[in-house]
Amino acid sequence: MADQVAAFRNVANVLRAAQQVAIEVQNAPERRKVLRGFPHAECAALLGMTRPELRAMARRVLPDAPPARARFTFDQLSRLHRAGGTLPAAPLRRDPAMEALATVVFTNFKGGSAKTTSSVHFAQFLALAGYRVLLVDLDSQGSATAQFGFDPAREAGPDESFAAWTAARDTGAAVSAAALCRHTYWPTIDLVPAGPALAAAEDSLARRAASGQLEETLYFDEFNAFLKALPSIYDVVVVDTRPDVNMLMTAALHGATGIVVPTRATMTDLASTGEFFAHLAGYIGDFTAAFGGGLSLAFARILVTAFDPTDRSQEALLSLARDRFDDMVLARPFLHSRILGTAGLGKETLYEYEATTDRAAYQRALASVNAVNRLIEQDVLAFWGRPLPANAL
Ligand SMILES: Nc1ncnc2c1ncn2[C@@H]1O[C@H](COP(=O)(O)OP(=O)(O)OP(=O)(O)O)[C@@H](O)[C@H]1O
Ligand SMILES: [Mg+2]
Repeated sequence: MADQVAAFRNVANVLRAAQQVAIEVQNAPERRKVLRGFPHAECAALLGMTRPELRAMARRVLPDAPPARARFTFDQLSRLHRAGGTLPAAPLRRDPAMEALATVVFTNFKGGSAKTTSSVHFAQFLALAGYRVLLVDLDSQGSATAQFGFDPAREAGPDESFAAWTAARDTGAAVSAAALCRHTYWPTIDLVPAGPALAAAEDSLARRAASGQLEETLYFDEFNAFLKALPSIYDVVVVDTRPDVNMLMTAALHGATGIVVPTRATMTDLASTGEFFAHLAGYIGDFTAAFGGGLSLAFARILVTAFDPTDRSQEALLSLARDRFDDMVLARPFLHSRILGTAGLGKETLYEYEATTDRAAYQRALASVNAVNRLIEQDVLAFWGRPLPANAL
């Protein structure tokens, strides 16, 4: 028994050390990840204009515009977005007085269904499109946290994750939602990190669900309370969740504007996704019977991930899903890409990766994730009562 415990600890220590090394390598030489520059062609696509139009606009708006072969920094890209009227198709940020904060929760029972990959890509897509984003990691595995260059075991302690919020609410201590949102190397993405310490929040919510405490500390309202306490600077909150039925995910659903359920197009994954929806239906029914109300989801989408169009069985399952669930299935799948595996090794997303070889495959993968994200953005814009901007990535 003792031997086994020691062996388990050893596995944990070795893999944590490996994670630390991976994060240190990706953060080098500044010890923090840095964001790459953006070539003219990519910026022109993002802003929905031709390269000559972009050059002309950059000359007008940016005193520090880079030469044609150099790259724009993220800050320069943001300034181009903010140039407002001069941009025909730039999405407008939300008006906090008129438009509610949109919260998009990526969730599914199924492990490895690309929840983290999809949520992080969506957050970065929104940032590139000019929005201000908060990514909340509600998975104690801390995969999204690590993706942003923070070590879940060392840099997401009890005071630094959503656990700090629930702990303070348990004791009645003052807590600032804004203080839990840390800056990342993406200038317009902040992160509420997660790590093993987040388990305390899960326990706290479970205790409250079992005991039924004061109304303001009820488990299901806790994430909502956190969202309401956020500063109004954010346009969209993106939430990554853990792959099982858990209290944090449940609380997140109560704060969700919409949910995105990533799934692979295999029978096992779709069966598990079916169970997830059975759980959702049951939960909403039970909740309504007990408390009245329910979840107020403006949208719920199934996102087919890691899709291989050359695999007949996947193609058949995708058609079947579209047939049965109609537009609940996002019209475009996130293509399977070996590049994503390569990029993932260095904890880079497709938006961060710089393809040197096999650019065509990279462009295909990027086009698919852009199309997916555009569709989810469209749901957010519909929630705000706005039309989709004309610029297409
Ligand atoms: N489109 C894709 N093409 C190829 N590989 C992918 C794709 N999407 C995700 N993956 C890979 O699948 C693995 C699982 O993805 P990810 O971590 O996003 O899933 P998850 O649902 O968040 O997992 P968990 O349930 O553990 O939280 C990762 O190695 C990721 O790189
Ligand atoms: Mg994950």
